[in-house]
Amino acid sequence: MADNTTAVLGTGIMGAGMARNLLTAGMEVRVWNRTREKAEPLAEDGAQVVDSPNQAAEGADFVLTMLSDANTVAEAVGGEMSPLSVLAEDGVWIQTSTVGEEGSDRLAELAAEYGVTYVDAPVLGTKEPAEQGQLIVLASGPEEVREQCQPVFDAIGSNTLWLGSAGVGSRLKLVTNSWIVGLLGVLAETVSLARAVGVDPARFLEAIEGGPLGVPYAQMKGQMMIDEEFPTSFSVDLAQKDADLVLKAARAHDLPLPIAEAINTRFKEAIDEGYGEEDMAAIYEAAKPGSS
Ligand SMILES: NC(=O)c1ccc[n+]([C@@H]2O[C@H](COP(=O)([O-])OP(=O)(O)OC[C@H]3O[C@@H](n4cnc5c(N)ncnc54)[C@H](OP(=O)(O)O)[C@@H]3O)[C@@H](O)[C@H]2O)c1
Repeated sequence: MADNTTAVLGTGIMGAGMARNLLTAGMEVRVWNRTREKAEPLAEDGAQVVDSPNQAAEGADFVLTMLSDANTVAEAVGGEMSPLSVLAEDGVWIQTSTVGEEGSDRLAELAAEYGVTYVDAPVLGTKEPAEQGQLIVLASGPEEVREQCQPVFDAIGSNTLWLGSAGVGSRLKLVTNSWIVGLLGVLAETVSLARAVGVDPARFLEAIEGGPLGVPYAQMKGQMMIDEEFPTSFSVDLAQKDADLVLKAARAHDLPLPIAEAINTRFKEAIDEGYGEEDMAAIYEAAKPGSS
């Protein structure tokens, strides 16, 4: 018999895969997505597709949000018809979107308004790990609900780090995003430099492969840059949002991050050039030889 009814709000690139893995784990899953057609394929996997966040959460044990940013989450979860007001007694809100430091704190306040336990649990991993249940969950929240949430985390991820009180997960996510954004920016400039000096960038990837410099990410995203084909695992739009979150947090703590600033500008340029919905590797288009 299904238990742990979970309302999944947001069935984009990440949320759809996560919902499927909750179903595979035997849970009852209700899904809501602003664009309903994108959620409908999940009905074939056994999900109930509904028309509002409130309908999804009625009597559910968990509401799991996987939406683009903090404002979108607050809009879906707040208001008169709040899904938080109709959860089962002891229902928990598991917030997995990337919302940054201020965003996570703001959403925790929203949860408190409704008297619902808030677990801040952003994830590491992209489209494929989400589909394969191989995400790394950066969970933070009250220790009392740790055991209760574990079946959800086991379904969506291969590892859960319990990090302390709610908000620590989002702070660690910012730190990992600083690393990812930095890698992408330098990789784009390195592929460009190779081309500018007449070196085949494929030879660069070959030279670093398997050694300490050869992070798998370089092979994966570097190949996309070389091919100039950017099928989306993580969009430029959302990568730029994440770079902004890193910078906002750094500013709030009086920390200058000029490298992240420069890469954020590159992401914005790629968006201006029309690559916002393509994979973040399209930052290359703003860095390649001949671009402004
Ligand atoms: N993709 C990754 O590799 C990755 C990895 C880790 C974390 N994340 C984070 O996970 C979250 C989701 O990312 P994703 O890649 O799954 O993004 P996505 O495919 O673009 O999905 C975004 C979701 O947010 C919804 N949405 C956007 N604006 C909305 C609005 N104004 N009102 C209501 N719903 C709205 C979309 O609904 P529609 O379908 O109607 O547009 C969709 O459900 C983001 O916070 C992202 O930073 C992503």
